[in-house]
Amino acid sequence: MKHRMNYFMQTLCAALALSLAGTGTLCAQQAAEAEMPRLVEKDGRHALLVDGEPFLILGGQSSNSSTWPKMLPGVWQVMESMHANTLEIPIYWEQVEPQEGQYDFSMVQMVLDQARQHDMRLVLLWFATWKNGSNHYMPQWMKQDAKKYFNIMAKDGTYVDSPSPHCRAAMEADARAFAKFMGYLKEADPQHTVIMVQVQNEPGSWYSVRDYSREAEKLFRQPVPEALLKPDVLKQLGTTGKPQGTWSEVFGEHADEYFHAWHVASYIEHVAAAGKAVNPLPMYVNVALRDPLANLKPNQYESGGATDNVIPIWKAAAPSIGLLAPDIYLTGDERVLKIIGLYARPDNALMVPETGTGHVKYLYEVIKQGIGYAPFGVDAAQKVEQGLNNPTAAEYKLLAPMARQLARWAFEGRIQSVIEPADHSAQTIDLGQWEAVITFGSGRRNEAKAGGPADGKAMVIILGENEFMAVGTGCCFTFRGKGKNEGKPWQYLTVEEGCYEDGEFRMTRLLNGDQTDWGGPYIGRTPSLLRIRLVAR
Ligand code: DGJ
Repeated sequence: MKHRMNYFMQTLCAALALSLAGTGTLCAQQAAEAEMPRLVEKDGRHALLVDGEPFLILGGQSSNSSTWPKMLPGVWQVMESMHANTLEIPIYWEQVEPQEGQYDFSMVQMVLDQARQHDMRLVLLWFATWKNGSNHYMPQWMKQDAKKYFNIMAKDGTYVDSPSPHCRAAMEADARAFAKFMGYLKEADPQHTVIMVQVQNEPGSWYSVRDYSREAEKLFRQPVPEALLKPDVLKQLGTTGKPQGTWSEVFGEHADEYFHAWHVASYIEHVAAAGKAVNPLPMYVNVALRDPLANLKPNQYESGGATDNVIPIWKAAAPSIGLLAPDIYLTGDERVLKIIGLYARPDNALMVPETGTGHVKYLYEVIKQGIGYAPFGVDAAQKVEQGLNNPTAAEYKLLAPMARQLARWAFEGRIQSVIEPADHSAQTIDLGQWEAVITFGSGRRNEAKAGGPADGKAMVIILGENEFMAVGTGCCFTFRGKGKNEGKPWQYLTVEEGCYEDGEFRMTRLLNGDQTDWGGPYIGRTPSLLRIRLVAR
């Protein structure tokens, strides 16, 4: 709340500053002084700093066609009922530059104004050259000149519905428009309502691994760029070919895919760098994933995007892109945890900018290792009607008031989490001198769940040697001594149930008796927060 208040004041001040432009008021100064959001890394962990402090995106992404005056009220309604703190919403190049060189940012301003009224941060999605591998958000004047703004050519000589990364004219036009957009934000958003910008949307191509046009073939026969020949890059790629040479000589059977990834990433770097030069907000690229557990061929997933196998190529080609963000729609615990692990890297902050509403089971895993989470299409009519957002809403209701603390704790490495496995077996968490034992079930005494859904989850935050925060759904917490407490009898000193308000933990009640005996404190379907202190005897 404290931070929200600061943000509210800044917003108010910025509005005043605009209306008093030139009078040099204190407010104008404050608005101008809001710190630029930025990504920081320490000991392999990451934080997104907003107003100078770690910030956790508890977000929601609108549907693709929602950045319109008549659609926005519904978006805000859902976002507020979800208790989200950040809206991810597209900005369409086709609207921004209806005629070549003529820009219209009224839509951007509308979203900024409304976000401030709703006390919400924004992540703006630059839908431009690539949207899910196609060019469908290019302005009409570009679509009408397919020769100049060409698509890629498949091996059989036919054009594919995907823009070519080798099209300089499109790249320069995108970079120009993006720089204008970032320039507009710089002027209109001194208080940083916008905390991040997504550059393109799921770039790459379906239906062809790369461009096989004559021009592209020429490039393909050129030597691999130096930046990719660095030993650590080659090692990460697992390359066994020649240490230098053409794409085929160095990368063998992966040459087509790596070539495409390099050129898509380089194109996007050019666009992102043009925007960053004007306004250095954190930027990211989202990824249509390849299944990390299946042995798929490049033409079975979107080629050229930052799939897990080409992350080192993207890192080398696109330094202006702060992070590569997995859109997690794939299902299954093993697969989802694997994806999280593949993108939570010392050189890449984990952010899940899109996921299914049913993926809420993995929310704590993302909080533990990442900076943000957002279910996709929160305003889609059927989701609102069916109330599918409820599991996320219940989580956000509890977590949003403590989002700043969570972001800091994650950055400090204090958060541990587990999910209920398919066999419902108990999970343990190492807490130093203690071990938390988490059982799952529909009741406090860990009733068997055979055949039931395995949807429990738990998160434990280490506050001190004997003091922890516990959050969960469908789980029961108990503890046993470890290290110097090994084998010792112990008991709860206090178990406080509560929530965060104004940046402080507020106890609602002390749990004791039946609420802590018989297997430890139990949390049902509605997530709740416990502050637990233990004592060894
Ligand atoms: C992933 C894309 O990034 C989104 O914009 C959207 O198209 C979803 N897929 C599917 O609805």
